[in-house]
Amino acid sequence: MLLSGDNTNDIERVGAILRAGGLAAIPTETVYGLAANALDGPAVKRIFAAKGRPSDNPLIVHICRFDQLAPLVREVPEAAEKLAKAFWPGPLTMILPKSALVPEEVSGGLDTVAVRFPSHPAAQAVIRAAGVPLAAPSANLSGRPSPTTFAHVKADLTGRVEALLDGGDCQVGVESTVITLAEEPPRLLRPGGITLGQLQAVLGRVEVDPAVLHRLEEGKKAASPGMKYKHYAPKADVVLVDASPEEYSNYVNQKDGCHALCFEEDRSFLQRPFLSYGSRYDSKIQAQRLFSALHELDLLGAEKVYAHLPSKRGVGLAVYNRLIRAAGFQVEVPGEHFVVGLVGPSGAGKSTVSGFLKEAGWAVIDCDALTRSPAVYNAACILELQEAFGEEVAPGSVLDRKALAKSAFSSPEGKKRLEEIVFPQITRAVREKIGAALAGGFRIVALDAPTLFEAGLDSVCGKILAVTAPEEVRLERILRRDGITEEQARLRLAAQKNESFYTDRADFVIENGGDADLRDQLAPVLEDVNGDGGELPL
Ligand code: TXA
Ligand code: MG
Repeated sequence: MLLSGDNTNDIERVGAILRAGGLAAIPTETVYGLAANALDGPAVKRIFAAKGRPSDNPLIVHICRFDQLAPLVREVPEAAEKLAKAFWPGPLTMILPKSALVPEEVSGGLDTVAVRFPSHPAAQAVIRAAGVPLAAPSANLSGRPSPTTFAHVKADLTGRVEALLDGGDCQVGVESTVITLAEEPPRLLRPGGITLGQLQAVLGRVEVDPAVLHRLEEGKKAASPGMKYKHYAPKADVVLVDASPEEYSNYVNQKDGCHALCFEEDRSFLQRPFLSYGSRYDSKIQAQRLFSALHELDLLGAEKVYAHLPSKRGVGLAVYNRLIRAAGFQVEVPGEHFVVGLVGPSGAGKSTVSGFLKEAGWAVIDCDALTRSPAVYNAACILELQEAFGEEVAPGSVLDRKALAKSAFSSPEGKKRLEEIVFPQITRAVREKIGAALAGGFRIVALDAPTLFEAGLDSVCGKILAVTAPEEVRLERILRRDGITEEQARLRLAAQKNESFYTDRADFVIENGGDADLRDQLAPVLEDVNGDGGELPL
């Protein structure tokens, strides 16, 4: 029976089906769920049969009021209250020691229970209509990608359940964040829409279960049984590729008969059929689209898929966690070398960080210095500038920077024209420098580039490293370094991109406020870039 989440009669019908021991697929903000009365053991048992799910994999119990939590657990600790206050209703599941009310079938033999208060209005309305908490795993057949649209649910579950309730597309797109509070310190078992950083901001210390990033070792017990099963797999063989947009695309272009699961930034370089799952810099959109993209690759009949490795920061950790499972932990790194973009606002202390990176054996290219060198302003470039801004910007073919700045920055069009002329030259000069560094035996090259994104240099970077510092600290540094007045320094900072412009795009963020130990902060970055790519950045 196909029903609508917008229709109150339909909601009541689903409530009645569930109360009577039936099954229904229902929307939530994360993914669709396959629900049954959580307090009815035999009803819950039917979920496992409908999904083809191993019975030792426990289910999440969904509630629609905070006070429904207490009867399900032995006690409600302060940490649970704090998390609920911060993130409920929403995409967070908490694991706590269970009460006798929770049937064996729900907890899969464990003495804990997972509880979530979803924010989707139709999910809340169904739980209210049923009058009982609902046990609900994702509404996919076991092992398949989770359903994020009603079409996915129909494809997997038609004929297997009493009702399918349409609630539109899921906004978060990946399953809820799962944290266990049954142990000290609290531990992240599954990343999702609520990020590790958000949890740490509320609880302080939160550990990350090894299964979040790594393949579970043979014979090891999974803290969250769901993590031990092959998961999220489309029919195609998926391989993750850890590379810059250019390198990723070159690699994929050499492969026959494959599909690319790529970012927006890769599209212009790709010559193979591709499906983009969002901007490289927008983990939330990637999360929203990932499962849909995996379903679509199935529909396209894709057999081999090369997916561009996502960032692991913020919601990115959830995207990475799902994709690495879809890929059966296969990651390829094309090429022998790696380019890292080093960005951040003025005064953040990028040079200090550069120093440490050089010490660690990286080549660092100072793109700012390069920009002021004849390598960029060659004869062809000078000629173009003269054509655009007049002979006087380079009398006798010698660049007069002041005259150029005066002329080019007098209007937005002038600035744009200047960039059109100069950015390709910068890119060319930087490429030459990268080539020289590699020829000189370096394997990792950092580009210290204030306008990395504006110049399009990010397309050669496999990772982005942002350096930040509090504004007052940056001001202080600029004053000391450049010998300008405070007013001039403030103007300069105000004219620049704000810090989030850089951190939003970064794979790693180094806080260089002064007292923090940069070496400690850089250790995981070095490990990630030098090593197997499996470490957690910060
Ligand atoms: O967003 C979600 O959480 C979706 C929607 C429908 O709410 N549900 C969902 O359920 O993803 P499911 O069953 O696909 O994933 C539940 C995860 C599994 O990895 C399971 O092993 C884990 O939570 N889990 C459940 N109870 C647990 C427990 N007591 N201890 C440890 N892990 C538990
Ligand atoms: Mg699932």
